[in-house]
Amino acid sequence: MRESHGILAICLSFAAVLGGVAALAQPAAGPQTGFVFRNTVTGEQLNVAEGKEGGRDTPAVKQFFQSGNNAYIDDKSCLRNGESLFATSCSGCHGHLAEGKLGPGLNDNYWTYPANTEDTGLFATIFGGANGMMGPHNENLTPDEMLQVIAWIRHLYTGPVKDAVWLTDAQKKNYTPYKQGETFPKDVKGQCPPLAE
Ligand code: HEC
Repeated sequence: MRESHGILAICLSFAAVLGGVAALAQPAAGPQTGFVFRNTVTGEQLNVAEGKEGGRDTPAVKQFFQSGNNAYIDDKSCLRNGESLFATSCSGCHGHLAEGKLGPGLNDNYWTYPANTEDTGLFATIFGGANGMMGPHNENLTPDEMLQVIAWIRHLYTGPVKDAVWLTDAQKKNYTPYKQGETFPKDVKGQCPPLAE
């Protein structure tokens, strides 16, 4: 009798441990995302439904909100758009080639916030801002436009390819960094239609 109690106790504590693991693996449910985005500085949960309307129902954004995987990396049509969005919204502070100006360089392998080595972290920083002059950009860019800007920032990267954790192994093999004077034709094929003028 005593022995079976012991076994029961072991089974129960095993179940409790399993339950705990399951609870940890389960991301806290966001409003309408699988992935939970948090403010880069405060850690507060970001509501990705807030901000500029639109750009939330593209296949790339849906995929990104579920898995954190940015389908626009290396897509020339998205790089073309990202270049133009970066020029209007970011380069004034971060420099034309993201080499750093008033804000830090975004084209090397040093990050104030290591979370920015992941596209999800970069998204959270753009969406919710960081300190001081780095305000939130969710009022002037939709999530889809943010993914295009992210693809462009990653394209401007000049650091060692081994530190480019946002690239898959296949992308690392074919990695071709930005070349000065490089342009993308308006009709280049890809997932991103030209921006409205
Ligand atoms: C008004 C100036 C200004 C603009 C515009 C601006 N930034 Fe920033 N950004 C800053 C400053 C200043 C910091 C440093 C803030 C900090 O350390 O918290 C910063 C920090 C960052 C960081 C964190 C870098 C790191 O090392 O971890 C990222 C990423 C970033 N900005 C991306 C962007 C993007 C993308 C845009 C355009 C959508 C943008 N910023 C627009 C000024 C700006």
